[in-house]
Amino acid sequence: MLVVNTIEELQLFFEQQKGKSIGFVPTMGALHKGHVSLVEFSQQKCDITVCSIFVNPIQFNKQDDFTNYPKTLESDLKHLEAAKCDVVFCPSAQEMYPNKIEKDFDFGILSSVMEGEHRPGHFNGVAIVIERFFEIINPDFAFFGEKDFQQLAVVKEVAKQTGFNTKVMGAPTVREASGLAMSSRNLRLSEDEKIAAANISSELKYITLNKTAFNPQELKANYRDKIDANPFLKTEYIEIADGNTLLPVINWEDSDYPIAFTAVNVGEVRLIDNMTIIN
Ligand code: PAF
Repeated sequence: MLVVNTIEELQLFFEQQKGKSIGFVPTMGALHKGHVSLVEFSQQKCDITVCSIFVNPIQFNKQDDFTNYPKTLESDLKHLEAAKCDVVFCPSAQEMYPNKIEKDFDFGILSSVMEGEHRPGHFNGVAIVIERFFEIINPDFAFFGEKDFQQLAVVKEVAKQTGFNTKVMGAPTVREASGLAMSSRNLRLSEDEKIAAANISSELKYITLNKTAFNPQELKANYRDKIDANPFLKTEYIEIADGNTLLPVINWEDSDYPIAFTAVNVGEVRLIDNMTIIN
């Protein structure tokens, strides 16, 4: 497995691999089984898999979230080596952004609800880094986890708006045995917080199974009550929205693809998750 820090080294590698299809797995490190599953999807579809590790400063709307983002490069490289990733790109911020960054994407509703509303500027920062990676790597396929469902929708829009031919693919959320969605931020949870955080997925699951008994408002209110009753947890938002438009579902008849989306603060750590509601 080749590990490179510069665009020049990466492009030299691509020149030696001419004609081969490229799969791209962008990450911010602190890799877990969810990331490894994306590498495996890429390997099934493409000749070469490139994984990037870059904690993108411009997508953090809170400085302490950026500063405290887990960094585990040595074990990340071990995971990628074991997964037989071909090349790992670990650029510096200077390498990624040599010039002043000034671009304002317009994603309309996609970036103004839920994560967009609660993390101002976040999706613009994601879009800028993804466009930059696409420019450097020009991948045939790029793979993203469905835990960040809204990010996946935004990235599909980035590919469309910027004209890259990259096909953006989503992959299912990988969960701990407790149901907790795997996330790099889980590394920041204490044992007690980790146990408490498992309630996020069990309460989402309750929503997905109770469509016939309750309306969306009742299920959201119940979720908030249950989560906030746990001293370690505080709901930031719980939304039931259509998976295609991300518009809130007020009545079940409004959507044939409703998804429950949430962000919950577990102590100092903000976690997100989502689950598709069964018809
Ligand atoms: O999901 C992430 O880890 C990041 O938002 C991404 C896609 C690597 C962009 O920095």
